[in-house]
Amino acid sequence: MPDTAPAPAPSGAPTRAREPIVEVIGLEKSFKTQRVLRNVNLTVYRGETMVIMGGSGCGKSTLLGHLVGFHRPDSGSIRIFGRDILRLATWEMDEVKKRFGILFQSGALYNSMTIAENVALPMREHAALDRDIIDMMVKMKLKMVGWTKPDSLKPSEISGGMKKRAGLARAIALDPELLFYDEPTAGLDPIASAEIAQLIVDLRDKLRVTSVVVTHDMTSAFHIADRMCYLHLGDVRMIGTPEEFRKTDDPLVRQFIDGSLSGPLTAATTGEDYLRDLLGEE
Ligand SMILES: Nc1ncnc2c1ncn2[C@@H]1O[C@H](COP(=O)(O)OP(=O)(O)OP(=O)(O)O)[C@@H](O)[C@H]1O
Ligand SMILES: [Mg+2]
Repeated sequence: MPDTAPAPAPSGAPTRAREPIVEVIGLEKSFKTQRVLRNVNLTVYRGETMVIMGGSGCGKSTLLGHLVGFHRPDSGSIRIFGRDILRLATWEMDEVKKRFGILFQSGALYNSMTIAENVALPMREHAALDRDIIDMMVKMKLKMVGWTKPDSLKPSEISGGMKKRAGLARAIALDPELLFYDEPTAGLDPIASAEIAQLIVDLRDKLRVTSVVVTHDMTSAFHIADRMCYLHLGDVRMIGTPEEFRKTDDPLVRQFIDGSLSGPLTAATTGEDYLRDLLGEE
């Protein structure tokens, strides 16, 4: 489905011509015989939070992996900040990577390092800064994500919610213009999930950062999204605002957002089409 949905300005932002930050055109990817992404078209504009959702195995992480340069598609193109990342030399891609941050599902913190050292890592690697300046910036980033514990703790000594905060502080270490989140609330209790979701909204509003968030946590999705994209078996089934999703009468999307047990998603698990999809056959 082409990305024809209008892009509203995020709350509070003036309406003007919008700059595409992420553009995915005709993306196709198969792993062996399994078609995982099917003609995916998606545009994310500066300052908006795009939530990508869909059932387990529908290709969300694979799509995210393409956007950050972990995967190469079989065909199609990906532009980040207007640059065709599939045609960049490694050093050019490194320049693009400095402009975005990633919050991995696990937080991906180094266990042997303190939280402060983890957050400082990208600053040490990519910016020639004095130790004092780095220490000050680490404190600033941790404050931004609502860190309340000593920064001398190790990842093994903190809760899942605090790990996400620390991972987020590291993701924003270099003041990215674009943030990618993979399941930022997975494994958290409802309160910690709501806090992380609020943090994502705050970062958008305070830093004017553009975000792409993969999640199947519907409560958070509706809280943080300016627009949403629903993937079904690697296919973009719907793109729209949370309001459009709330009102949709597409039975597949409806069942997913309502979390109903009966509907086309569960009926399909016994159908021939679904088996054909699973086997990657046409
Ligand atoms: N490196 C790989 N090699 C082979 N198959 C893969 C690879 N990565 C993903 N897949 C397959 O591609 C499909 C989509 O996987 P993906 O991880 O993108 O799903 P997802 O939507 O992120 O699921 P979840 O919600 O469970 O995280 C799955 O069937 C998965 O088994
Ligand atoms: Mg995934």
